[in-house]
Amino acid sequence: MRQPPINPTFPHIIHGGDYNPEQWLEVPGILEEDLRLMKLAHINEATIGVFSWASLEPEEGKFTFDWLDRVMDSLAKNGQRVVLATPSGGKPNWMALKYESIRRCDERGQRDPQGGRHNHCMTSPVYREKVTIINTKLAERYKGHPALLMWHISNEYGGYCYCPLCFQAFHSWLEKRYETPEKMTLKFWAKFWSHTYTSFDQVTLIDPSVHGLGLAWRRFMTDQVISFIQNESAPLRGLTPEIPITTNLMGFHDHYDYWKIAGTLDVVSWDSYPDWHVNDPLPGGHDWQTAMKIAFVADAYRAMKGGKPWLLMESTPSQVNWQRMSRLKRPGLHRVSSLQAIAHGSDSVMYFQFRQSRGSTEKFHGAVVTHAGHEHTRVFRDVAQLGTDLEKLDAITGTVTPAEVAIIYDWENNWAISLSALNRQDNRDYSPTCAAHYKPFWKRGVPVDVIDSTQDFSKYKLLVAPMLYMLRPGVAERIVQFVEDGGTLVTTYLTGIADEDDLCFLGGFPGPLRKLLGIWSEEIDTLNVQHVQKVIAVPGNNLNLPATSMARDFCELIHLEGATALAHYGEDFYAGYPAVTCNKSGRGNAYYIASRNDDIFNDALLGSLVDQLKIRRPLEASLPEGVSVQSRTDGENEFLFIMNFTSGAQNVELGGDVCYDMLGDKSVSGTIALQPYGVMIVRRPYR
Ligand code: GLA
Ligand code: ZN
Repeated sequence: MRQPPINPTFPHIIHGGDYNPEQWLEVPGILEEDLRLMKLAHINEATIGVFSWASLEPEEGKFTFDWLDRVMDSLAKNGQRVVLATPSGGKPNWMALKYESIRRCDERGQRDPQGGRHNHCMTSPVYREKVTIINTKLAERYKGHPALLMWHISNEYGGYCYCPLCFQAFHSWLEKRYETPEKMTLKFWAKFWSHTYTSFDQVTLIDPSVHGLGLAWRRFMTDQVISFIQNESAPLRGLTPEIPITTNLMGFHDHYDYWKIAGTLDVVSWDSYPDWHVNDPLPGGHDWQTAMKIAFVADAYRAMKGGKPWLLMESTPSQVNWQRMSRLKRPGLHRVSSLQAIAHGSDSVMYFQFRQSRGSTEKFHGAVVTHAGHEHTRVFRDVAQLGTDLEKLDAITGTVTPAEVAIIYDWENNWAISLSALNRQDNRDYSPTCAAHYKPFWKRGVPVDVIDSTQDFSKYKLLVAPMLYMLRPGVAERIVQFVEDGGTLVTTYLTGIADEDDLCFLGGFPGPLRKLLGIWSEEIDTLNVQHVQKVIAVPGNNLNLPATSMARDFCELIHLEGATALAHYGEDFYAGYPAVTCNKSGRGNAYYIASRNDDIFNDALLGSLVDQLKIRRPLEASLPEGVSVQSRTDGENEFLFIMNFTSGAQNVELGGDVCYDMLGDKSVSGTIALQPYGVMIVRRPYR
């Protein structure tokens, strides 16, 4: 059950992060001082080289590794391992100016001037070749180096390039997928507005009015990034096959399908920058909502590699400088929010960055060592404290979280919904709606996998698929099978509308799920922000639905075709139409929620299913609002993370078990008291 450590030579939780010594080496004694501070901060890792290309290859073909040798050797001696980056996230001026094709073009074909970062063309053969050369040099040089822990390829891949090379590659991609322009025209419904294609090279713009084209472009760009990653990785895999490869992804960033990109990596990692305390008049009020949203994303990262641990590659030790505002983390928050990552399957807590920039755009971004330059700061103490905590958690590396509930969060479906020109422009809210369906589980401490619609459903008892607008080939069939075999499905309005090319299903929604759900959805009403529709529960319904709840934004008008209604609409001309239904199919049940309902409703429905399906809750006691319980296990021990995301003290009932408090080094049982933003990690036998 337990997974091997990400790198078997380092069975510890990684604590460290981005370190950019090349920006500082002119300052006498700075490296030695950094090494001293890293030790003090209980930092065991440094991520280096992320934006070092100009320092590694100052002129074409002239390589300067001495400074990096010195840094790598010194870190190794000082007890830090290195996550070594390949530098393709930022290209040197000489290269960008000499080789125009490596610079991106915008939608209108205008070439970027050099500047910024993350703006290379993924297709350019010149860039790919330059990357191969530098990556080969890095791998040759640091192969077998005692510090080398992992490869971090590039940085935060993102964005699109619309240059002639990318379009050429797109045309071949289209031809491979659609075979002829005629077939493509049909799939894209392009006869509309006379956009009929008679050759692939007539695609010269990603026309927002042609939705199938928009989807194809995103799929193509995902494939281009994957092939770029494979190109980047080839020399590393060849020369250092034992060193795992990752790249830092960005939460639910939507440019590329991360479910696919994950397949090219040995371990997934991501950069998490929650806006703690920002939405509150007073700090503390809604932090748990922020924590819940982050938990939802984290559970997707855990599922991306089938439950294997992931890495928190970047987080800020204090503030960021690119959000609307960034509040200081309240005492305790750094600790609980960092341990939250571990709770959800991370084997690391890493920061951007170790030493704060002196100039340029990141000079006011938080760092472990601030401009003050010493260790006597609140932030440094918080980091050092966390470092000592993490040193007690070796037993947690590689542990996993078996889940009986899955929520589908599908990148491609998100694209389809955003492109779709639905009857409402705002508040489509795919991601927040998925998170709203996650919340009842989070509040009960129920482990959840957040999965893609292409993943296996068979291991779950309960599958929640909010707004699954697009059903790609095979998905409906697998959902039907899941229910027939005894699974419980919960799905909602805007499900089963279109196929993988965004062509609407004909013959009645929810398309291929109509029979399973036993309903027909005839129309959809979209409500403006002042409007609410009432949802009136059928008395005695088996889900304890509240007598009346409020629906907003979307209300579908559905008809029963075998399903039973559990609630009806209360107002307007469709008062009395079914609003929630259940259909039995095979050994399972399929629920349909026809409108976007309030939290009380979701809580009752999903909470009742947790009880009825006897879904395992690692801690059975009911939890105070804002307290989260997550679990990891090695099969023998269970590690419970009990986290207070409120600014008030909270009590939690552990039940009859005697547990071991891993951070406090003592036994605990009965009621435990959590400080404001307090956290406890307890170990007990797994059963
Ligand atoms: C991203 C980047 C880093 C840094 C941080 C700042 O995550 O990967 O290089 O710019 O943002 O928050
Ligand atoms: Zn390009």
